[in-house]
Amino acid sequence: MSSEGMSMASIENLLPGGSGFVFGGDYNPEQWPEHVQDEDIALMVQAGVNLVSVAIFSWATIEPARGKVDFGWLDRTMDRLHAAGIRVALATATASPPPWLTARHPQILPVDIDGRTLWPGGRQAYSVTHPIWRKYARRMAERMARRYCRHPALALWHVDNEIGAHVPRDYSDAAARAFRTWLRRRYTSIDALNEAWGTAFWSQRYSDFRQILPPRRTPTTANPTQQLDFARFSSDAQLDYLKLLIDAVRRHSPLTPVTSNMMIQTRYRGSDYFDWASSVDVIANDHYLDTADPEPHVELALSADLTRAIAGDRPWMLMEHSTSAINWQPHNRAKRQGEMLRNSIAHVARGADAVMFFQWRQSLAGSEKFHSAMIPHAGVDSEVWEQTLRLGDLLRRITEVAGSRVVARAAIVFDYQAWWATDLDSHPSVDVTYLDQLRAYYRELWRLGVTVDFVHPRDDLTRYDFVAIPSLYLVRDGFAARLTEFVEQGGTAVIGYFSGIVNEEDHVIPGGYPGAFRQLLGVRTEEFAPLLPGERVLLSDGTFATVWAERMGLVDAEPIVTYEQGDLSGAPAVTRRNVAGGRAWYVGTRLSQESLASILESALGEAGIAVGRHIPGLEVVTRTHPDGTSYVFAINHTDREVALDLAGEDMLSGHAATVERDHVEIAPGGVALVRVPRLDSDDNRHDVRRATEQFTRRTRAS
Ligand code: GAL
Repeated sequence: MSSEGMSMASIENLLPGGSGFVFGGDYNPEQWPEHVQDEDIALMVQAGVNLVSVAIFSWATIEPARGKVDFGWLDRTMDRLHAAGIRVALATATASPPPWLTARHPQILPVDIDGRTLWPGGRQAYSVTHPIWRKYARRMAERMARRYCRHPALALWHVDNEIGAHVPRDYSDAAARAFRTWLRRRYTSIDALNEAWGTAFWSQRYSDFRQILPPRRTPTTANPTQQLDFARFSSDAQLDYLKLLIDAVRRHSPLTPVTSNMMIQTRYRGSDYFDWASSVDVIANDHYLDTADPEPHVELALSADLTRAIAGDRPWMLMEHSTSAINWQPHNRAKRQGEMLRNSIAHVARGADAVMFFQWRQSLAGSEKFHSAMIPHAGVDSEVWEQTLRLGDLLRRITEVAGSRVVARAAIVFDYQAWWATDLDSHPSVDVTYLDQLRAYYRELWRLGVTVDFVHPRDDLTRYDFVAIPSLYLVRDGFAARLTEFVEQGGTAVIGYFSGIVNEEDHVIPGGYPGAFRQLLGVRTEEFAPLLPGERVLLSDGTFATVWAERMGLVDAEPIVTYEQGDLSGAPAVTRRNVAGGRAWYVGTRLSQESLASILESALGEAGIAVGRHIPGLEVVTRTHPDGTSYVFAINHTDREVALDLAGEDMLSGHAATVERDHVEIAPGGVALVRVPRLDSDDNRHDVRRATEQFTRRTRAS
């Protein structure tokens, strides 16, 4: 039962009466004496909590010793929640094996690249491929499903927890066996594997699949295609484990939707979530801010946009974020005033129909005791609880927004596999990383106020006017042809350096760089000339190139920016080619923020997406219903008041924004949500475009 199968238009199906936003968090009552539940549930009702995730780490409480099972506390918890009208995302309780299990079967423990066992005492100490763990985990998931499938509080199955989080790659013997099976399926013959892995090099030719190991620590760099395949295998192995548990749950509970919380953000790259998406009914994401990031809200927006892409543009669940500080980064600061609300609304603006937290009540013991919660150590007489109540109230006021969609005309191509491949060793420069350019492009588009969709190389590009490819070292079969078609049909593409270099096997596309995109771009590079740390080269636009340069020849393109110094003096750094109806830009160096912004602005302008003068630090995103009603979210990340010229109805009256007849004033750190009435036209998509353009023009003018 995939998401298509369930045809869930919205998360709201999870709620009784079916409407509005999901609001809640992880509820771990086993950490507290049972009588605390009465207060918990009364406070949940006060805050408007309507869904809680229960039993994620409960195996050792449910089954404290082998075969000694006690569901009593969980039965009572489920009943109490139901009596209060609160629904439950019930976990499979498999997120961490109980100590009796790892003591009895230590062979299920995962192993790192250096052969060190990852011992119990933390969490997630299991190998997803070990048959013994799989047998126990499946049995536990079935047990949970059998017992609670008919419980009226049950709304959603929460399978395991952040699968892969702590062990994205397992190098154990069990993993080695599963890797070989995976390779047999992928290549059929050992000759095909030898060909794909380029094993003629360094005497690596295999004569039997049984000789193959995971890329454990080697004397020098390991075979790159082997590393890449191991990354693919690891993602598939986690997915296979997810499917095992989903099957177990559905055997007994076929009608309840299933999810598993993913980590769709730049901090985690262990799983190719585009491949996972169709296995769950609802996409759920966990997101935590990076304390060291001066603009964490930009990374939040990136994560939310990427989650929307993985959800296939349907609304998704923010399954976890934090009310305030977390506890697992080097420095964990409390959120700033209003930051939790801004974070929550930013996720909603980009398609979340659920706002949930880790966790309901802050722990007094254990590793996460300094992680914030909806009820902090200070209790309800606290700012955090006030903010929790405020958020609950706010989500109730905007019920009608749930189910609406974000529409974008610009897209960024994103591929986990290209990420893995780009960041492999033995490349021209260690400073060329996938995220560096992805973030740089995203940040400038965010600053320009352009809402982007992320698209997978398999996705249809023709619904966009502008496509950015910040970094795509590895190119999927057929992508270059589809990109060319997109440009020929009038689209504008901007391609970043060190893209188009290798095929899916990590073999170089010969004939000059950037192999796959050479023709489309009308350039040809014979050699790379990466810059040394600290080195910079003056460009014709007065800014400096860093990190990357190449000796690029123009075949059929015009130079837009050239090098003005040194060896490459006079050579092109940024080029542009008119192609039939469209344009293809190549950014052949790492530009400064200012220079990249100006290139993107020109390319967007050619694509008919005007950006003009935007308000720095103001985030504006629109969600739209099929009937054309649009909701404009405006989040002020600055410490001064900003005013927008925008006509519509205020949906958050009194919430740090004043909506006048034709403009909105937003207090420092405040949020506005304005309902823009339906525009008359048969073509809703066109309406949304017009609404966005009118809005952008007004914003520019203010
Ligand atoms: C998530 C996890 C939660 C909790 C949270 C703390 O990764 O799913 O159980 O540990 O982090 O930030």
